[in-house]
Amino acid sequence: MFSDRVLSIELSGIRKIFDMAQGNVINLGLGEPDFQPPPEAMEAIHEAVKEGYNKYGPSKGFPELREAIAQKFSEYGNFSANNVLVTTGATEGMLTTMLALLNPGEEVLYPNPGFVTYRPHILIAGGRPVDYPLMQENEFMPTQEELQKRITPRTKAIIVNYPNNPTGGVIDASHIKMIIDLAEDNDLIIISDEVYFHLTYDSPPQTFLGKYDKVIFVNSFSKEFAMTGWRLGYLIAPSEFIEQIGKMHYYTVACPQSPIEYAAMVALQKSRYYTDMMCERFRARRKLIYELLKKIDGVNPNMPKGAFYMFPRIELNADPRDIVMETVKRGVLCTPGEAFGSAGKRHIRFSYAASEENIKKGMEIFAEVIEKFR
Ligand SMILES: Cc1ncc(COP(=O)(O)O)c(C=O)c1O
Repeated sequence: MFSDRVLSIELSGIRKIFDMAQGNVINLGLGEPDFQPPPEAMEAIHEAVKEGYNKYGPSKGFPELREAIAQKFSEYGNFSANNVLVTTGATEGMLTTMLALLNPGEEVLYPNPGFVTYRPHILIAGGRPVDYPLMQENEFMPTQEELQKRITPRTKAIIVNYPNNPTGGVIDASHIKMIIDLAEDNDLIIISDEVYFHLTYDSPPQTFLGKYDKVIFVNSFSKEFAMTGWRLGYLIAPSEFIEQIGKMHYYTVACPQSPIEYAAMVALQKSRYYTDMMCERFRARRKLIYELLKKIDGVNPNMPKGAFYMFPRIELNADPRDIVMETVKRGVLCTPGEAFGSAGKRHIRFSYAASEENIKKGMEIFAEVIEKFR
């Protein structure tokens, strides 16, 4: 009754954990800021609805918003509205990109561990997902050797994601160059998911944008302005990519949500301070959770440089999935690293998009659970 396509994919393991959570839990499983959107953006939605922004808008997004996005990134290249597609979140942007790029059997490299949509999106589009490992020893950046040996004549594109979910890793300039050199040599498209672009703690963001002519830069208002439920994102790419991906986008969603586009425009003009505020709060929480995890014997945390995730390695003779189950049973939500791919299986992901108080309580309970498994 159902297509091979839908039967080839499963709901993400993260959902299963969240379904187990009932009542009053400490949520360190969240993939979103624990803040509400900036007040002026919330006001703007009311205004937009009253002013009549309740109809279909241009399929690729309001020209003023596309232009504002192009201008925001002008230090990285000479972009105009023609280089921008406004999407219903990075999620739709990534799926329609895959649908526009892939012929059956063409291969796409994607990170393992990595964000949960990459593999299903490649499969839905008829492509062949080929994962490459990210290891803690290498600060969760790929090595040239690991990438090179996975490239075949059928490889069409590589997905990269920095700042990274689930590891908190960021990429440095030499790895960006290594990946671009490989892409150039093998005629690959780089799809760079940079939804955490604004959340780096030790250095300014390093981006693929503007560094290679076949980059599709994926971004979102979700994390930057704590608007995850508003579902607005965007792509920046050469205009011929935008034209073709724009067709898939039109037949998938018709157009972005008009009142949300209006509010996003206001946020771009007025709410930069808000992202900076969140970033400072996350920076303090990062330090707190890192220090608490570091004290627990058998848990080896990395100091994350971006996004809002910790991805410690569990160095005990126990299955991290059992540790997560027990931690969740005791009211603290977290995610087994394996939910993000086989290379994450010795790890557990904690989100520190949570209050200091909850981080402290959560780590106390986690330490007790680890004691039990020792
Ligand atoms: C790496 C990464 N990419 C994309 C997304 C999806 O973003 P959006 O809300 O814009 O669809 C997320 C959300 O958690 C993410 O972590």
